Amino acid sequence: MSEPITAHWHAPSNIAIVKYWGKFHNQIPANPSISFTLTLSYTDTKVTLTEAKEQLPTADVFYEGVEKPDFLPKVLKFLDHAMAFYPWLASKHLKIETRNTFPHSSGIASSASAMAALACCIEDIHSLLTFTPFDRQRVSHMARLGSGSACRSIYGGFVQWGSTADGAGSDHFAIPVEQVHTAFLDVKDYILILHSGKKTVSSSAGHGLMKDHSYAEPRFQQAKQRALALRDILTSGDWEMFIRLMESEALTLHAMMMTSDPPYILMKPNTLAVIEKLWQFRSDTGYQIGFTLDAGANLHLIFPASLTHIVERDFLPEIQYLCEQNRIIRDCIGDGPRKITEG
Ligand code: PMV
Repeated sequence: MSEPITAHWHAPSNIAIVKYWGKFHNQIPANPSISFTLTLSYTDTKVTLTEAKEQLPTADVFYEGVEKPDFLPKVLKFLDHAMAFYPWLASKHLKIETRNTFPHSSGIASSASAMAALACCIEDIHSLLTFTPFDRQRVSHMARLGSGSACRSIYGGFVQWGSTADGAGSDHFAIPVEQVHTAFLDVKDYILILHSGKKTVSSSAGHGLMKDHSYAEPRFQQAKQRALALRDILTSGDWEMFIRLMESEALTLHAMMMTSDPPYILMKPNTLAVIEKLWQFRSDTGYQIGFTLDAGANLHLIFPASLTHIVERDFLPEIQYLCEQNRIIRDCIGDGPRKITEG
């Protein structure tokens, strides 16, 4: 190989309905999780591969055109893992140019989309070099080693990661949820920016807090049952049950952090204000509009696309002033990563 080889991909982030919180060695999840993949919130990554003299992969990372040496350790660790799948990575240099379509600290997992995009680029180069088909399962496996939740971003729609008692799924890679009722084919995720400050606890530290947590075992058991329950709900099309499970999952994730040692409160007063207004709105109108939270203060408003006009007309005016600079990212369920062909 003398000419540089390039690969360019967009990979979206995802939002978990049943949450992954707690892991074992090598990014093996303590419980299964189910998310859906987003559309507008994605990472755009271009990798240019050239020959290098070293025996290990080397890299430069540019974020929005600016070189970011502080991103390197995570990338090099990822490439080190990747060598098990792609031995040709040794003695290669990767120029990684990346950007996100969504702002930092917006309650969207940027590590999920970033690692998914990088894994797609590397697999794409692999298929060019070896004349083999692009292998999504291997990409998901790889992405997991970079950031657990990234393995779910390799597929569109609803996606399961972690094995469930019925024998479905794997702890090593994600799989798409096949049986999804039409009621869940068109789902909106309006991300309300209630606090854009940096999170007080990283997700790696958060997973670590589950190790000696008093409620760890019951929580893992609960999530295992809920993954099965959610798959049934997705098959039946029952939005009421979906919202009940989703909101309890969000609050349980936060409860785990509130009861860890040291404890963390990641919600802000406006997070609670929106939840109260949403519950009031739902009880007044009966509309199936629910919420979930990531490990931060921003709130994801989840509803079927058929209710978009109701949300826009009747609910957002009640809460938009609680968002920082009125910011809302109007995202929705999507199809997963996309290869970008230049020109
Ligand atoms: O993939 P990580 O290590 O950033 O952990 C993600 C954890 C949550 O976003 C809180 C839940 C999830 O399942 O995505």
